Amino acid sequence: MKISPQVGKKFGVIVEGFDAETASAEDIAELKKTVYTNKIAVLKNQGLDPAQFLALGRRMGEVAEYYEPVYHHPQVKEVFVSSNVKEDDGRQVGVPKTGKFWHSDYQFMPRPFDLTLIYPQVVPSQNRGTFFINMADAYEKLSEDLKLAVKATTATHSVLRYFKIRPTDVYRPISEIINEVNGKTPPVTGATAVTHPFTGETILYVSEGFTVSVQDGDGNDRADLLAELLEAVGQLDRTYEHENIHLQTFEKGDMLVWDNRTLVHRALHTATPEPAVSYRVTVYDNDTDVVA
Ligand SMILES: [Fe+2]
Repeated sequence: MKISPQVGKKFGVIVEGFDAETASAEDIAELKKTVYTNKIAVLKNQGLDPAQFLALGRRMGEVAEYYEPVYHHPQVKEVFVSSNVKEDDGRQVGVPKTGKFWHSDYQFMPRPFDLTLIYPQVVPSQNRGTFFINMADAYEKLSEDLKLAVKATTATHSVLRYFKIRPTDVYRPISEIINEVNGKTPPVTGATAVTHPFTGETILYVSEGFTVSVQDGDGNDRADLLAELLEAVGQLDRTYEHENIHLQTFEKGDMLVWDNRTLVHRALHTATPEPAVSYRVTVYDNDTDVVA
C-alpha cells in the first residue's frame, strides 16, 4: 500500500496497492489514520461488488444503514445508491440529484456518520467530481472575532430544507409531509464548534444545507452569525473559487474515503447531466484502537 499526497490539490491522498480482500488489520488502521489526517483518501483500482464493498465498510467500523429505504441497493441494503439511471424495465433504483448543497452526511441526525465511502459505478465523461471544504481548516482561518463569537453558541440542523419528496408523496398535503419529516427526524442541536476525537482539531460544524439556526447561550437567534460564518468559509460562493473549496475528481475504479466529521461536501451537478451512479457505505468508527 502506497500513500502519496494529491499533486496540486488542497488536501487528500492517493492510495495505491490497497486490496480490500487481503488488507491486514494494520492496513485498515493506517488507512483510517491517513483519512483523519488528510481528510480524503482515493483508493485506486478497486473492483468490488456491493457485498464486498459492504464487507470493506464493516472492517472500517460499524456500518450504518440509511433511514430512508428508497436509497437502498436492492440486494445489499446497507449500500446507499445515488443514481440518475433507470433500469431496463424503467424502474428507478436509488435517488437522483442527491447532495446538491453543502452538507455533511447525516448532519441532521443525532449521530452523524464518521466516515463516508463513495464508490462511483457509472462515471460521467465530464463535469465529474465533488466539492469539499475542510471545516477544521476553515475554522482556523476565521478571524479571532468570529472564533470568539462562535464560542458558547449552538447550531441546529434539520433535513427539512432538502428533504426529497418521494413518488409516493404526490398529492399529499405539504403540511402533512413536513409534520412527518419533523416527527421522524426532529431538528438536532449541538455545539457550533466541535472537537475531532482523533486529531483534536476544532471543527466549525455548520452547513448551508442542514444548519437551520445558530443561537447564543441565552437562546437568541443568531442568523447574522450563521450567514457570516457560511460566507467566511466559502459555502455561499456560487463560483466555487473560494480558497477553501477543493474539487475532488475521480475516475472509474476509484473509491473515495473521507472524514465526514471534518468535511462538508457538495455534489457537482450540471444542467444536462450525463448518466451517473454511485454507491455509498457510511460508517461509525467508535473503536478506540485508532490514534491519529
Ligand atoms: Fe453527501
